[in-house]
Amino acid sequence: MQQAASYDVLILGSGAAGLSLALRLPASCRVALVSKGPLQEGSTLYAQGGISAVLDKADSLESHVADTLNAGAGLCDPQTVRFVVAQGPECIRWLIAQGVRFTRAHDAYDPDAYHLTREGGHSHRRVVHADDATGREIETTLEKLVRARANITLLEHHIAVDLITAAKLGEPDARCYGAYLLERRTQHVRTVGARHVVLATGGANKAYLYSTNPDSSSGDGIAMAWRAGCRVANMEFMQFHPTCLFHPAAKSFLISEAVRGEGGKLLLPNGTPFMHKFDARAELAPRDIVARAIDHEMKRLGSDHVLLDISHRPREFIQEHFPTIYARCLEYGYDMAKDPIPVVPAAHYTCGGVLTDLHARTDLPGLYAVGEVACTGLHGANRMASNSLLECIVFGAAAAADITAAGHTDLPGKLPKWDESRVTDSDEEVVVSHNWSELRHFMWDYVGIVRTDKRLQRALSRTELLLHEIAEYYGNFRITGDLIELRNLEQVARLIILSAMARKESRGLHYTLDYPEPDNTRIPQSTVLVPPNFAAAKQAVNWMR
Ligand code: FAD
Ligand code: SIN
Repeated sequence: MQQAASYDVLILGSGAAGLSLALRLPASCRVALVSKGPLQEGSTLYAQGGISAVLDKADSLESHVADTLNAGAGLCDPQTVRFVVAQGPECIRWLIAQGVRFTRAHDAYDPDAYHLTREGGHSHRRVVHADDATGREIETTLEKLVRARANITLLEHHIAVDLITAAKLGEPDARCYGAYLLERRTQHVRTVGARHVVLATGGANKAYLYSTNPDSSSGDGIAMAWRAGCRVANMEFMQFHPTCLFHPAAKSFLISEAVRGEGGKLLLPNGTPFMHKFDARAELAPRDIVARAIDHEMKRLGSDHVLLDISHRPREFIQEHFPTIYARCLEYGYDMAKDPIPVVPAAHYTCGGVLTDLHARTDLPGLYAVGEVACTGLHGANRMASNSLLECIVFGAAAAADITAAGHTDLPGKLPKWDESRVTDSDEEVVVSHNWSELRHFMWDYVGIVRTDKRLQRALSRTELLLHEIAEYYGNFRITGDLIELRNLEQVARLIILSAMARKESRGLHYTLDYPEPDNTRIPQSTVLVPPNFAAAKQAVNWMR
């Protein structure tokens, strides 16, 4: 039997958000950093295009703010947007100081300048990057530093099952005390207590059949926070990236928006350009517009893909700017320097999440949420490209500052062990894999880029069937990683569907044929879902549009 361990800070997740937060905490702080798989694995590792910040003299913070608000379609919190954008340049300097090597501009007049690329929605070049593998450079650099820190205990291959709260212990005051972690190697559940717990678990994009994300994005943090009594917001705004490589073996490999930023054109299968018909910014319109236009054209023509063409650029330029994408396309038989490549949209980013304030605090004292798991108010109804990594670094720092300022609060007392006395091993794992697959299919078909009331209702009915089956399975059998993820995905799928049903208009990433226009008769509001046990968890998270 494992002893219950206690730490000052328990960070669930080791992407850009979790790693940067861990590194910003003082060395006197005893930290446990948890990842489901190897430390590196998560969306951050696969981020391509870059990280946005105002670094060019011709650019301005006001312009970055205006572009972000514009992409967010009326639902960003302006205070959050200003807060994040203002810290962009400092965040880039911090990353560079940690050893992150961004691509230089080769500018004869300014040898220190970094190359800035352009992406959809940005009215300036303001995306700093490490070739086309920015996330790998950030993740691996921060990982090395974290591994060298004596105050950080790494718990790799541990999956958080649930948060331990005062309410669960029958105590009157709301607080988070720690979490239960399933150690994958031994299949035992460990009890870990902490003064502060941070959700940095990434998004929920694996709720969809086709997604650019790795398997870790199963919405665990959102589901755990919801069960613990925290509010979640804006879950209907699931972002679909317009361009993933269309190839049966490519597993939705992303073709960065920077390819369009550097001149790539979208074409119909017969070679005709079409984006200008949908938006004056054509290929550089925000993502919701481009993904919807592609979806529209594919459905109109009955085609399974469209084309992306950058072959008019010299081969050396393509190889220099997009070495990873170029090599990966060649593996699948496409030479992007010679021919257009086939692309399709795929689920990419969760704009909504656990409601947090400017210190990354959630509704539950002692619980923070940082990175894609959180809804900070930055993205509103549609995230602008490359604003996500920035948000991870800004709120990693904000949470670290808040935790440090809180000083030494009491450590939780004795926490109850996970009770496995009444469960047995499952003899029907097929139920879990079947339900996984069913959920991701109906989410893709009914809750995707284009929705209707009827499709949403169909999807909701399916989740209700799953809910009972999963609850029964969860109550009777020993938990596994797959079961934990399925339970969380079902929970998050319901939150997405309920939020989408509540929005009787089309706005940003939420597009419904039943209400195809934004409702401009009233001030747009975020969709905030309140869990049944909210009162027990309540503290003052209070921004909101
Ligand atoms: P992640 O990096 O996803 O990390 C999540 C962590 O949580 C992992 O360590 C995982 O193991 C852990 N975890 C999850 N659940 C549990 C659990 N139950 N128990 C324990 N641990 C758990 N954004 C940009 O700004 N610029 C880009 O260029 C860009 N390109 C992208 C390209 C791709 C292909 C993808 C998928 C995303 C891209 N994004 C980009 C989005 C951005 O990468 C992510 O939003 C961001 O990296 C999320 O970081 P995170 O730290 O919040 O989560
Ligand atoms: C990309 O490189 O296109 C992804 C950028 C992002 O998701 O912000």
